[in-house]
Amino acid sequence: MKNALLILVIMTMHSIMSAQNYDESKIPPFTLPELLVNNSGHRITTVEGWENQRRGEILKIFSDQMYGKVPDFEYEITYDLRPVEAPELAGKATMEEVMISLSNANGKVDLTMLLILPANTQGNVPVFLGLNFRGNQATNTNPNITIAKNYIIGDDRPGYIDHRATEESRGTAASRWPLELILEKGYGLATIHCGDIDPDFDDGFENGVHALLDSRPVADEWGTIAAWAWGLSRAMDYFETDDRIDPNKVAVIGHSRLGKASLWAGANDQRFALVISNDSGCGGAALSRRRIGETVEAINTRFPHWFCRNFHQYNDREDELPIDQHMLIALMAPRPVYVASAQEDQWADPKGEFRSLYLASPVYQLFGLPVLQNQQQPEVDKPVDSGFQGYHVRSGGHDITRYDWDQYIKFADKHFQ
Ligand code: GCU
Repeated sequence: MKNALLILVIMTMHSIMSAQNYDESKIPPFTLPELLVNNSGHRITTVEGWENQRRGEILKIFSDQMYGKVPDFEYEITYDLRPVEAPELAGKATMEEVMISLSNANGKVDLTMLLILPANTQGNVPVFLGLNFRGNQATNTNPNITIAKNYIIGDDRPGYIDHRATEESRGTAASRWPLELILEKGYGLATIHCGDIDPDFDDGFENGVHALLDSRPVADEWGTIAAWAWGLSRAMDYFETDDRIDPNKVAVIGHSRLGKASLWAGANDQRFALVISNDSGCGGAALSRRRIGETVEAINTRFPHWFCRNFHQYNDREDELPIDQHMLIALMAPRPVYVASAQEDQWADPKGEFRSLYLASPVYQLFGLPVLQNQQQPEVDKPVDSGFQGYHVRSGGHDITRYDWDQYIKFADKHFQ
């Protein structure tokens, strides 16, 4: 019986994946929901109208229908710093682990944040904060970083056995976290294994921060992406207590599913001064209604725990969504936002990622800020930015690379340095 069910699930997944469209000419015509017309049909024309009314309406729809809202719950939060010996930094920077512990009567969840800061700073360090897929120890070759204990996504790389990290995993994702570059440009870096916040498998929300609640999420309550975003805000809580860091200069960054989380964190928590989405695709920066590459049905089938249950009702019914992802990007305004794609990453719909960013422009305009001038997706490896909206499509595949970081740092420099 169990095997028959498994075969059925695999067959359904296979048929959904192979039925994906990659042909622009086959995208059905669609109309996007109005960004600047409120729920009662009135056009928003002022910053006040946006900030006091429309922004909240849009945030609520995303919360109720897509990512799921975080229920009210009480917890205690404590921070414990442990220095990590890092002679390779030659005194130019410090490496620490900050244990962010969240606890209440239901239990305790520990988020281990790796924090690397340029040395001898005067309380003004800007920081890039991002979740990682494979444990803090994979982001850097330093042998003293604590090895992630929680469930690791995928199991196909050297250094991982049965979804757990081993010594051999050290530094295996270092190319995604170009520390030297980040430090040299005057930034700090903070990263947490996403599995510390919520392990990325469909566990009925028994694990991670969900376990701190008395009951499991109902239809409009948080899935894993919302839990990750919430965890990013807990890192932000910590930054506000560390006087080496400038909490007004924190950029939240994420790749792929973790880019979906960085966008949702940026939408909810306006303490993040800059938001970066790297190849976040469906459920991230890409417009859902384009139905090219990954679709709502495909994502909800393969990852039923990512979004709230209400989102499943839009499987193959994208036109009924009361929002689309350009509205998510608009929630970042007036803060700077950067969206990046990769040319070969058609699953994430590079063009749809660019369109969302472009279509968020009217809100930046309300604030009197410069916006992207050209509605055409830029050429490969030709970044564009208006100062507040940045975009590039990099040659190559689904990844976050040194090239991507070069662009993010250039963009962040305009606001933070
Ligand atoms: C899958 C998934 C994407 C996701 C990606 C990732 O490809 O379909 O939505 O962005 O994994 O996180 O790497």
